Amino acid sequence: MPALKNIKRLPEDLINRIAAGEVVERPASVIKELVENSIDAGATHISIVTAKGGKDLMRVSDNGSGMDENNLKLCVERHATSKLSNDQLDRINSLGFRGEALASIGSVAQLSVKSRPHDQGTGLIVEVTGGKISQPGPVSMNRGTIVEVKNLFAKVPARLKFLKGDRAENSAITDIIKRLAMANPSVHFILEGGDRQTSNWPGQTGPDAQKSRLGQIIGSEFINNSVVLANTRHKIVVTGMAGLPTFTRANSMMQFFFVNGRAVRDKVLIGAVRAAYGDFIFRGRFPVVAIFVDIDPGEVDVNVHPAKTELRFRDSGAVRSAVIAATGLALNEAGYRASSQLSTSTIGAFSTPAQSGQTRTGFPPSAGSTQFISSAQPSNVEFEGLSEPSARYEEPQQEDYSDFA
Ligand SMILES: Nc1ncnc2c1ncn2[C@@H]1O[C@H](COP(=O)(O)OP(=O)(O)OP(=O)(O)O)[C@@H](O)[C@H]1O
Ligand SMILES: [Mg+2]
Repeated sequence: MPALKNIKRLPEDLINRIAAGEVVERPASVIKELVENSIDAGATHISIVTAKGGKDLMRVSDNGSGMDENNLKLCVERHATSKLSNDQLDRINSLGFRGEALASIGSVAQLSVKSRPHDQGTGLIVEVTGGKISQPGPVSMNRGTIVEVKNLFAKVPARLKFLKGDRAENSAITDIIKRLAMANPSVHFILEGGDRQTSNWPGQTGPDAQKSRLGQIIGSEFINNSVVLANTRHKIVVTGMAGLPTFTRANSMMQFFFVNGRAVRDKVLIGAVRAAYGDFIFRGRFPVVAIFVDIDPGEVDVNVHPAKTELRFRDSGAVRSAVIAATGLALNEAGYRASSQLSTSTIGAFSTPAQSGQTRTGFPPSAGSTQFISSAQPSNVEFEGLSEPSARYEEPQQEDYSDFA
């Protein structure tokens, strides 16, 4: 007879470490959680410091709401959140909601949280070492919150040995910050450290804030070679910018997708972009895009994975067609006509923008660049949006997600 095995409740510290395995994969995941907390706290200025690719030190300082003593004690506990009320899980409006990020980080690193709410003259600090939480003590600081994470995975050798070199970890951190900054143009971001070049992106306001922020991060060449997206379909609002088909990359590293302000990786969105560009771009080339989808929070489930970079749409067909329509419309206005009957005779019809006679809105290509106009055949596209059958969609052979941390 096999021996009976008793079931034990796991100690809190071990529960946290198990959870941390999913939330904290590498330094960039810590940075993502901390900066998302700052954004949720309404910060307009967020500064990030790293040392040794984040392995030795990560510090995120913000000027957000801060926390008083009670909240500070709770914030490092598991399943403690200010962001979720009882039955709200199907309508998430904040970046965080699981109430586990700080507890997870505290179980695999030395963590300190200093915070000073706006109505307090001084701050308080709590520290978590080896999963043990200290009593709050006074600390002098500006209003807001400063979270410091030291020696990540120092006591988790299995994880430590899977981390990449400092440069690779640094670039993963930069990538995460870029995405968070794109989604939050009004926030001033500074990313610095002895191990990197400083990135300083002052907050952008006004009607062109999104475009200016994308220019700060992706570069002016992208702004000069892209079209503005602004279309609503099936109550799904699609904004952002999409590079002209002449402005491509060899991989998908420069494709950025956001759903309700959250940077995501999602096959529906990647597939929609591929479909929208299907007639204009050679296989193996990837357009540069920054696409922002705003959708009723009840129509999307972000509680799919603890890292919250994956999601599920209730009606993925509607999202796909909204993105194809917005991209197709903007490209169409720039002179790119999608056609299901694209034949070899139409391929190769190149003209310069000045000669094309096409009307364009948004950002015309920079002087001298050429653009592909497949105008030899009339467009069979119905507008209001790009009709789906006109766009070619092929299942990806091999998806490149290497750019996501
Ligand atoms: N920078 C900050 N400023 C103000 N409050 C903060 C800050 N960081 C964390 N908090 C508070 O601490 C709580 C716990 O943070 P934590 O990141 O662990 O969980 P969460 O953000 O609620 O959910 P998730 O685990 O999905 O991130 C938050 O709900 C928030 O109230
Ligand atoms: Mg959080």
